[in-house]
Amino acid sequence: MTDPLDDLVQQVQGSIDQEVREEFGEAVYRRWKAPEYFGRMDSPDSFGVLTGSCGDVMEIYLRVEGHRVAACSFSTTGCGPSVVSGSGACELAWGRDLEDAATIEGSDILYLLGGLPPEKEHCAHLAAQTLREAVRTYWQGEDRLR
Ligand code: FES
Repeated sequence: MTDPLDDLVQQVQGSIDQEVREEFGEAVYRRWKAPEYFGRMDSPDSFGVLTGSCGDVMEIYLRVEGHRVAACSFSTTGCGPSVVSGSGACELAWGRDLEDAATIEGSDILYLLGGLPPEKEHCAHLAAQTLREAVRTYWQGEDRLR
């Protein structure tokens, strides 16, 4: 016998999933359901933290090996679009040279996600700016060692 409360929860979750798919598309939905790069990194080589004009905070953590992004993760206090944007920034940065990672723009993240509603595009720009901040902080640290 199934629990009526479990059935209700599944129905509600199913309709939320359907709404997200319809409003944001499959690429966003997949990353929202399972944000692969979500979580603060222990002992990162660098990180960036920025607060968007909306008040949400984005954090991006980098592990660097041989001037290449060997690992990337993010955390955010923001909405679903900021979660998928942080995830997209890490997805694009992972494995790239730092110089390349520093060129990633919000528009690249939006392209990867298949777009966001105009009122949420700033989430992608915040993620890209935070990634660049993490790279800049890494370079600053290297300069101090010289
Ligand atoms: Fe603030 Fe998404 S980052 S609304």
